[in-house]
Amino acid sequence: MNILVSYGSKYGTAKRYAQWIAEELACGLADPEDPENVAHIESRLEKVLTPEMREKIRQFHLRGGIDYSRLGLTHKAMMAMLRRVMLKKGYDNLRSEDQMMLDTYGGTVDFTNRESLAPLLNYVRSLP
Ligand SMILES: Cc1cc2nc3c(=O)[nH]c(=O)nc-3n(C[C@H](O)[C@H](O)[C@H](O)COP(=O)(O)O)c2cc1C
Repeated sequence: MNILVSYGSKYGTAKRYAQWIAEELACGLADPEDPENVAHIESRLEKVLTPEMREKIRQFHLRGGIDYSRLGLTHKAMMAMLRRVMLKKGYDNLRSEDQMMLDTYGGTVDFTNRESLAPLLNYVRSLP
């Protein structure tokens, strides 16, 4: 089986997951900063992914992180807007995830967790 992990990352958390996956599966890692890699990945995906395959793609959720001091203007504005919406709803009416967002607003949180890759790694390893 040929495996290549390709990723896009602005603040570095997706890159961390990509590196962990590549280490676990002993496979290649494509640096998204290299335009040659990007062109290669895009042309390969166009050739190898049919619409039927796209339907079958499995998704795995991996928690990220946020460091407000590193956010760009758009992301800062998005989070400020989200905060206003949440404050309007009232802290006690929020889901715990949203309460956590308010609690950590303006700071740094990192939920990246290597263990959370287990379902993805098991799935890839079970492929024929
Ligand atoms: C505006 C913004 C909101 C985010 N909200 C969440 C969140 O609610 N939960 C979470 O696990 N990660 C959140 N993240 C982090 C992302 O899941 C993810 O780690 C990040 O966007 C991946 O990109 P990176 O590789 O550039 O770090 C947020 C990131 C940004 C920029």
